[in-house]
Amino acid sequence: MPDITWELFEKQVEACRLCSLCERVHHKVPGQGDPHAPLMLIGEGPGQDEDEQGLAFVGAAGQLLTRMLSAISLPRERVYICNIVKCRPPGNRVPTPEEAEACRIHLRMQTWLVRPKVIVLLGATAAKNLLNPEIWITRERGIWTERKGVWMLPTFHPSALLRDETKKPAAWEDMKSLRKKLMELGLYTDIYGQE
Ligand code: URA
Repeated sequence: MPDITWELFEKQVEACRLCSLCERVHHKVPGQGDPHAPLMLIGEGPGQDEDEQGLAFVGAAGQLLTRMLSAISLPRERVYICNIVKCRPPGNRVPTPEEAEACRIHLRMQTWLVRPKVIVLLGATAAKNLLNPEIWITRERGIWTERKGVWMLPTFHPSALLRDETKKPAAWEDMKSLRKKLMELGLYTDIYGQE
């Protein structure tokens, strides 16, 4: 994809009519953050707050995500955050496989532009679409997979942690594992500026 630029990406998302989710949204939510971050986090799809503001992970789940990142000393603005689908599914339902597939072109462009070394998959939808359609997140979270030189970590979605506090210790283990991986890859200093 040699001629892809961020400007083109933004225009393409804005003009997209590849599925019907765009018909009811207030704003599209392409994603935001450091355009060359070594770490990318991918969620499911925008919720109400995200739809209103046009920004990913700004509601309650997003605030928890910010705290989780800062617990391992990662400033949120130094990572890149986006979703499997860029338009809010009605009533926050899970995007259908067809919607996720239609939106894949945008995610591919984004990944190509950011070129992350590490990707965190937030929740079952991201993990199923990008890692393994059969994944059982409760059992398989925390397990690293390398694909074409990119390390991928499935973990619980922050919304799941808000619904069920008993998942938090496992999510904390995953955050520590993320920090360790970034350090091993020599990326922690890239993000944080110092060890
Ligand atoms: N949940 C998601 O998966 N993404 C957001 O941007 C917000 C909530």
